[in-house]
Amino acid sequence: MLRIVVFFFIILATGIGNDTFAIASGERDGKMTCSGGGSTCRFCAQSGPGDHHSCMGSQATRSCEHCMALMKAPNSQLSLRTIARARDLQIGTAVAAKPMMNDALYNVTLAREFGILTPKDAMKFGAVHQCRYHYDFSEADAIVAPAEANGSQVRGHTLVWEPVSSISEQLPFDRLPFWLTAQGWKRDELISVLREHIRTVVGRYRGRIAAWDVVNEAIDEDGSLKKNIWMRHIGPGYIELAFRWAHEADPDAKLFYNDYNAEGQGGKSDAVYALVRDLVRRGVPIHGVGMQLHVSLDSYPDPGAVAVNIRRLSALGLEVHITEMDVRIDGLPTEEKLSRQAGIYRGMLAACLSAPGCKAFVIWGFTDRYSWIPEYFSGADSALIFDRSYRPKLAYKSLKDELSTSDARKTPEKVPCELCGRK
Ligand code: XIL
Repeated sequence: MLRIVVFFFIILATGIGNDTFAIASGERDGKMTCSGGGSTCRFCAQSGPGDHHSCMGSQATRSCEHCMALMKAPNSQLSLRTIARARDLQIGTAVAAKPMMNDALYNVTLAREFGILTPKDAMKFGAVHQCRYHYDFSEADAIVAPAEANGSQVRGHTLVWEPVSSISEQLPFDRLPFWLTAQGWKRDELISVLREHIRTVVGRYRGRIAAWDVVNEAIDEDGSLKKNIWMRHIGPGYIELAFRWAHEADPDAKLFYNDYNAEGQGGKSDAVYALVRDLVRRGVPIHGVGMQLHVSLDSYPDPGAVAVNIRRLSALGLEVHITEMDVRIDGLPTEEKLSRQAGIYRGMLAACLSAPGCKAFVIWGFTDRYSWIPEYFSGADSALIFDRSYRPKLAYKSLKDELSTSDARKTPEKVPCELCGRK
């Protein structure tokens, strides 16, 4: 019952389904017309080459005039997702099933601001495959279905990973299931376990997931492959196998390698680059690299170096997504700290916008009300762009300013591509 109430609240609050005025066909980027009055502001954005336009974004407004005024003042009340689409960028967030089922304000903000959602934990091995012969997709379904209803894309996260530091033995997604880790495996046995897992999970959402983080955090700080369970029993070939199985299970999903501390320059970034270049050269179906970007006020990569790294990955024919950004703050979030935080968010978004291969900018949650930071980083918090009461923080405003005022992507840039044209 509660779910139904929350759902209808979202419909009302976002204006979805309230199709009271239409868009003139062939309309140009960023323009809209109102016909018949009403309270939902919808408009067109160019979604492909040539004259193909489609309807994107919707926002509750008082009247047609109000809607027109919003379009003319892009920095005022338009949402992040709406402004970003006109820049060929998806703005997204990680989400959890529980607040989606229980917290109306969470849903309203989510639906308004973010066009691509990553289940924070609900698709992890421990969440869907806790028992060897049984899968539980209830939490994952509770995210995918409302995302689709709201016209949002989903980033699947993640198929092959061994979480390293577990804070709690109780959290199933924090660790691989006991049945998997508590016994030794012959290579062929573990290959068939992983193949079945990937086929089942990817197959269930075939055609509904825009991008999958197929392999997560496989590289160590020194650039070597981590000695995780897959490496120990299958060997380095597990990475290629995972991409091939995922591609078989959903040929339309874009497949990503995702990691942290590999965003700017350095040995680990070079190792990620070398890994994915090798996969591309050998024809393995990989389509992108995810840069996590969990950073703090005192430690974050140089945005210029991030842009250079994005460009060299794009030159392989790969997309880049910023996948898990947050900027944690130690101690009390003073004005000064929040302002530095806003600058870091803005700098990374600018880096992404400056490189045409960067197609998504995803934050690891959006409200400090539900954030993984205090649990995992002692003394730190306030890492996200809305506060606990869903009030936008300076960081939110800085992202919006950057999206509205950046000169990047106004004219399409040709990406030099070493390895394009491959299948
Ligand atoms: C974190 C989640 O946010 C927590 O809820 C969970 O307890 C542990 O995992 N890199 C990743 C994410 O790829 O899956 C992690 O998410 C954060 C670090």
